[in-house]
Formats: sequence, structure tokens, C-alpha cells
Amino acid sequence: MFRIGCYPGTLFLVSLFHLSHPWSVNNFLMTGPKAYLIYSSSVAAGAQSGIEECKFQFAWDRWNCPERALQLSSHGGLRSANRETAFVHAISSAGVMYTLTRNCSLGDFDNCGCDDSRNGQFGGQGWLWGGCSDNVGFGEAISKQFVDALETGQDARAAMNLHNNEAGRKAVKGTMKRTCKCHGVSGSCTTQTCWLQLPEFREVGTYLKEKYHKGLKVDILKGAANSAASRGAIIETFSSISKKELVHLEDSPDYCLENKTLGLLGTEGRECLKRGKALSKWEKRSCQRLCGDCGLAVEEQRAEMVSSCNCKFHWCCAVRCEQCRKRVTKYHCVRKEKGEQHGGNVPPRKLRRKQP
Ligand SMILES: *[C@@H]1O[C@H](CO)[C@@H](O)[C@H](O)[C@H]1NC(C)=O
Ligand SMILES: *[C@@H]1O[C@H](CO)[C@@H](O)[C@H](O)[C@H]1NC(C)=O
Repeated sequence: MFRIGCYPGTLFLVSLFHLSHPWSVNNFLMTGPKAYLIYSSSVAAGAQSGIEECKFQFAWDRWNCPERALQLSSHGGLRSANRETAFVHAISSAGVMYTLTRNCSLGDFDNCGCDDSRNGQFGGQGWLWGGCSDNVGFGEAISKQFVDALETGQDARAAMNLHNNEAGRKAVKGTMKRTCKCHGVSGSCTTQTCWLQLPEFREVGTYLKEKYHKGLKVDILKGAANSAASRGAIIETFSSISKKELVHLEDSPDYCLENKTLGLLGTEGRECLKRGKALSKWEKRSCQRLCGDCGLAVEEQRAEMVSSCNCKFHWCCAVRCEQCRKRVTKYHCVRKEKGEQHGGNVPPRKLRRKQP
């Protein structure tokens, strides 16, 4: 999703997964602004953490952040502009900003440190700014340079991507936490000094997942996207939407179904979760969502896992263990048997593939 290769006369935007080491220094020597070379490993790590977070957040969704669908390359016409594309842009952009900011706080860059610009100023009832705030301003500026520079077009797609990149950066800012220290006689806390800290990145991911569910569809007429007048309309349309919200232009395809053209595998064969005290509501409904609602059956597989347990130390010197057997039950989505197709109260669906 970042510019990493340069063919004579053509620029290709290639996904992180296209090449195993897309962020080598060479790539940036070729295409990145040279002054920003020092940040390239941080940017790469940030983009990677964004993708990992995407996979975590969507582990039990029909669309589960598959690598092939993450190709945001316009090359080959694979580039989509749906709700999921919006999330990928936002989380990647957030990951890059987050990592740059964290790197800065850890002293990894010579030219940046804590944000103490407000220190000493009144913050609110009973507290002053003080201490070492994470320097999100730095992370924001540098990540913008890297990530937004990839959108060279002036069409609605580019405007959408830029909007979602910004929403990702806003998410990092908006989830920062105020941390305070008490001052006063024996910790009486008559005054406090406070600073802003990054949250765990998980929190940014969870916040953006909520934004994903509330994503707004922007209607812009296709075909007319190249005239100057419509460029004005595009800018106007996008600027009327809050920068915190995720936006998309197209409806999502049916993720139940395999679609090779779009690089989608469908939900057949996916694992889902059923029982377990620690499951969230969303996880508990995963078999229904991935299998049942997609016209697939749930297959239960029991397996026994053998592991070492009750280990005891014997004088001298051996450790003896027992072999414990643990039952595990796994669930997967499988195609229904013929004749069972229209059974149950699941609405009939098209067959995914021809029967073998
Ligand atoms: C920034 O942090 C990431 C991950 O925490 C690390 O991989 C990377 O090397 C760091 N960058 C620099 C320049 O220290
Ligand atoms: C795959 O998706 C494309 C674009 O939405 C659609 O035109 C095509 O019919 C789909 N193919 C299959 C096999 O469903």
C-alpha cells in the first residue's frame, strides 16, 4: 500500500505483502524522500503492526483481513473502495503514526523527544501540564508525509483514502490518555501535573473497528470524476464529513463467497468459536455469522491433545511427567450435504462451487 517500486515512467503502488521485504532501504532510496530515510524502519514496523491489528480485529468476521485483498494496487484493477478498504487505510496510517510516536518517546530519533510545549500551563481543575507527553505531533507529521504521499490521484478514491488515513491519525490522538502525578504535602495531591500518553495500540484498533461499523458511504457519480467541476464536488463532499469517520464509495462484496478475481476465499473451511466462558458476544455468534448465515453447516471436530503435566522432580536428577489428555473441540464451516441444501431455517443460497 506504500510506494515501493519504480518502473521507468510508471509508479506502482504495491501492497506490503507483495514482496517479503518491501521496506528495504533500497526501496526508499529509490522512491522515498531522502530526508526521511531515518524513519523508514519505524514506518515499516508501524505498517506491519497496523496489519496485525487488522487481522486481530477481524479474526471472527467474514472478511478477515486477508493478505490478497490488502493489495491496494491500482495496477490490475484490484483496488476496491469499500468499508474494508477504509479500515485498512485507517489502521495502517494509525500504525505508522503510533510507531513513529513511540519511537520518538523512546529516544530512537535524535531530532525528537517529549512534547513539553504546554508544560507549566493550566490544564484543568487542579492540574497543570507537565512531564513527558508522547509527541504525537511529530508522529502525525512524519506519518502523513509517508502515507499520504502515496495518493497521487485526484479522484474520489484518492480523496477517500486520504480521508481514512486522516481518520486513522485522529484515532491515535483521540485515544490518548491523561496520566497524572500528585504533588503536595505527603501526597495530598493539592496539585497535579499531567501529560498525555499513547494507549495500547489494541485500543486504537478497537476504536477504529467501531468506526468501521459506522462507516459512511459517499455517493459520487462514477464517470464524471475527471472534470474540474467534479473535483470541486469531491473536495466539498469529503470536507463535509467529520475527519474522525471512515468513508467508503462502494458496497462490499459478499464475503461468504469465494471470488478469485477479488482475491477472496469465502468462509468455507473457516474456523469459528462456540463455547467458552471468555468469549465475547461477537465471538459467540461467529459460527452463525461465518457458517450458518452463509448457507454452510458447522462441523464439530473433537481431538485429544496430549501434553506433559504433573511434572515432579526426582532426587537426583530427573524430572518425570505424566501424559495428560485434554479434549478440544473445534468448529469449522463446511458445505452442506446435498439434499440438506434448503434445510433448516437458513434461507437458500447459491452454491459456492460446482459439486466435485
Ligand atoms: C521503532 O520501533 C519499532 C518497533 O517498536 C522498531 O522495530 C524500530 O526499529 C524502531 N525504529 C528505530 C529507528 O529505532
Ligand atoms: C467477483 O466479484 C466481481 C466484482 O464484484 C463480480 O463482478 C463477479 O461476478 C464475482 N465473481 C464471482 C465468481 O462471484
